[in-house]
Amino acid sequence: MKTASFLLSLESLLWPLDAADSGASDAIKNVLKLLICDINGKRPGVMIPIPQYPLYSATLAEFNIQQVGYYLNESTNWGLDISELKRAIEEARKTCYPRAIVVINPGNPTGQVLSRENIEAIIKFAHKEKLFIFADEVYQHNIYAPGSKFFSFKKVLVEMGEPYSKMELASFMSCSKGYMGECGLRGGYAEVLNMEPQVKAMYLKAISAMLCPTVLGQACLDIIMNPPRKGEPSYELFQKEKNGVLESLKLRAKMVADTFNSMEGFSCNEVQGAMYAFPQIKLPSKAIEAAKKAGKAPDVFYAFELLENTGICIVPGSGFGQVPGTYHFRTTILPQPDKLKAMLDNFARFHKQFLSKYS
Ligand SMILES: Cc1ncc(COP(=O)(O)O)c(C=O)c1O
Repeated sequence: MKTASFLLSLESLLWPLDAADSGASDAIKNVLKLLICDINGKRPGVMIPIPQYPLYSATLAEFNIQQVGYYLNESTNWGLDISELKRAIEEARKTCYPRAIVVINPGNPTGQVLSRENIEAIIKFAHKEKLFIFADEVYQHNIYAPGSKFFSFKKVLVEMGEPYSKMELASFMSCSKGYMGECGLRGGYAEVLNMEPQVKAMYLKAISAMLCPTVLGQACLDIIMNPPRKGEPSYELFQKEKNGVLESLKLRAKMVADTFNSMEGFSCNEVQGAMYAFPQIKLPSKAIEAAKKAGKAPDVFYAFELLENTGICIVPGSGFGQVPGTYHFRTTILPQPDKLKAMLDNFARFHKQFLSKYS
């Protein structure tokens, strides 16, 4: 079901949706809020991937909802194993009442794109466990790897037919990603499917009590939802620019993963989609000791050394969650190709020096 919620501000827009927000972040928080309610004396729990985009861990902590982490499988290009979902939910049931599962596809920070079969298996799992699905699909336009294709949860769920097509789902989209990357315009939305009518009424009331997102953000989102069509004057130019941006990102995705894989102690999965690489790095034991002495986690220590020696800023894996004892970091593929190449060359030089210092 799709209905406009910010009636005054959205009436003029051509696309119907459930809730326009100042970015997908607000949309996600507004739906998460609906879960703040103890059940049978237990606080609610929400399953989130590890590594994950920190909006989720932070918001769950803010709302006093229990984080139920499930690990993505690095050895299958950050695939999502159903056996791991089962492990995580069984463990969590001892301390909370799991009510929802978050899936980020394509992944941030991990850059994987889920196959249709994997999505079907997740939907079946969520159905069996009576979980509301949060489909974070803000990177749906950013698909690079040959053979990878974006499937929306809504499409798969509807095509699976009943009982799955009746499941509760919210899908999130943003104007900050894709080929637009307009983070400053702050536009996002939630498309909500099959929400229990009484809950939906409360949801719409709650978001209507806030003021509407900025007109610029809404206009930007309208352009993404309703791009120039064949036969319209700007269609050719729009296609050229859009494809140009996405083709260039595809080259950059490969350049980043290839460079990291050529560096000693690094292993980087293919960046199938989104805007990031999340390589694993084996740190020498002397570096781990030096980190301990400095009172920093080893990956944080490495990130600071890199920053101080080169000016390159990366985000340590501990900010996203990682299997204990492994070290990662996230970097983006967004800089223009010449700048990205210069950054990667600089990074590789630093890493050699780091290894000779601590080996
Ligand atoms: C996976 C994911 N979801 C949601 C968001 C938030 O998007 P927005 O900028 O529209 O708030 C981001 C932003 O980086 C993201 O990476």
